[in-house]
Amino acid sequence: METISIINAKDYVDQKVRIGVWLTNKRSSGKIAFLQLRDGTAYFQGVVVKNNVSEDVFKLAKEVRQEASMYVTGTIHEDTRSHFGYEIEIEDIELVGQSEDYPITPKEHGTDFLMDHRHLWLRSKRQFAIMKIRNEMIRATYEFFNKEGFIKLDSPILTGSAPEGTTELFHTEYFEKDAYLSQSGQLYAEAGAMAYGKVFTFGPTFRAEKSKTRRHLIEFWMIEPEMAFMHQEESLEIQERYIAYLVEKVLENCDYELDILGRDKEVLKRYTQLPYPRISYDDAIKLLQESGKFPDVKWGEDFGSPEETYLAEHFNKPVFVLNYPKAIKPFYMKPHPTREDLVVCADLLAPEGYGEIIGGSERATDTEYLAKQIEDAGLNKADYEWYLDLRRYGSVPHSGFGLGLERAVTWITGEDHIREAIPFPRLLNRIYP
Ligand code: 4AD
Ligand code: MG
Repeated sequence: METISIINAKDYVDQKVRIGVWLTNKRSSGKIAFLQLRDGTAYFQGVVVKNNVSEDVFKLAKEVRQEASMYVTGTIHEDTRSHFGYEIEIEDIELVGQSEDYPITPKEHGTDFLMDHRHLWLRSKRQFAIMKIRNEMIRATYEFFNKEGFIKLDSPILTGSAPEGTTELFHTEYFEKDAYLSQSGQLYAEAGAMAYGKVFTFGPTFRAEKSKTRRHLIEFWMIEPEMAFMHQEESLEIQERYIAYLVEKVLENCDYELDILGRDKEVLKRYTQLPYPRISYDDAIKLLQESGKFPDVKWGEDFGSPEETYLAEHFNKPVFVLNYPKAIKPFYMKPHPTREDLVVCADLLAPEGYGEIIGGSERATDTEYLAKQIEDAGLNKADYEWYLDLRRYGSVPHSGFGLGLERAVTWITGEDHIREAIPFPRLLNRIYP
């Protein structure tokens, strides 16, 4: 007899197997007990029929509590009534760990309660589905960039630089010096691109944002590809192919999980069709003004979440907004060749109200220009000499971008809030568990 995982039940129909499981819920009468089981690979039902098992086993089936762990032994049957399609008719139960009164019950709980019990909440079915999809997106990310000839380069977490501005930095001490938790691996990725051509970083990034929104985490994971000998237009093509690839792989490999979440797969399929529309910042402003819905929108300002939602809904697909005003973007972006008030950059806005999922640009290559930009941004030039060296020794046109993993997971899974997209979210004033 084999010990198997629930997900493989389809290969063992009418065979006797053993599975290590936790109990998620149960229902029983005098003659039969239905145990809802999970093992981390899937959820299915175990049936214990009083007349077919020993008295001890039936007693145990009635005594096990929610989240108790056990080995169940029995025969796999097809179960056309359940979405999963299989169940196990249990003959024997070996209790491994009985459970105390489990705090998370099938009834409704408030968000704060669930967040306080995040370490247990992760066991629930929706969280399971989201984490599996997150995992698939991570897997597909490595696959995509490796196929495209990128190498993964690890950027440091402790750093002396602040690429995305000084207002949202986590400060710490580094022996006698100041250090920050990384906001972005980009500047190091640029060094990597000059060394190895095409690289991507993928690591945790930190923003001490005082904002409490559905889209902001304090700690989030970012994928930052950086490509040497590449202009922005070609970078946009990589970006859209990457996003379409993520959606395709989730559709291909996470059908069960998308069903658990009730995510509309036809809608997701639309996002695999390329190209994504492109609109300039100038035209986006006009579109918003002409819609009559945003009377206060002015050229020169960053978009808020209602504006981003409107733009992506207008195209019904992810949309690139190109060439924002220089004044609202970071120091490293390439100045526009004919418009000195713009930079060569793009944000990719996701539809269905999910907002910006990618920020990227072509990078400035002129040493003097960059040095001035660094000083104008209120940064200490000495801390960026190494970055300026990248321009001093064989500078080339290069471009890159950053995808916020949790923003993308929230969008693809169709969740309302970004806190669902990471196992242990770090939110404003929350660091437990
Ligand atoms: O637009 P951002 O700040 O760009 C950068 O950090 C660049 N260095 C990227 C690059 O060109 N290499 O951040 C990039 C993405 C955003 O589009 C968003 O998806 C995500 O990171 N992001 C956040 N996700 C969750 N919580 C936050 N507080 C986020 N801030 C940015
Ligand atoms: Mg951005």
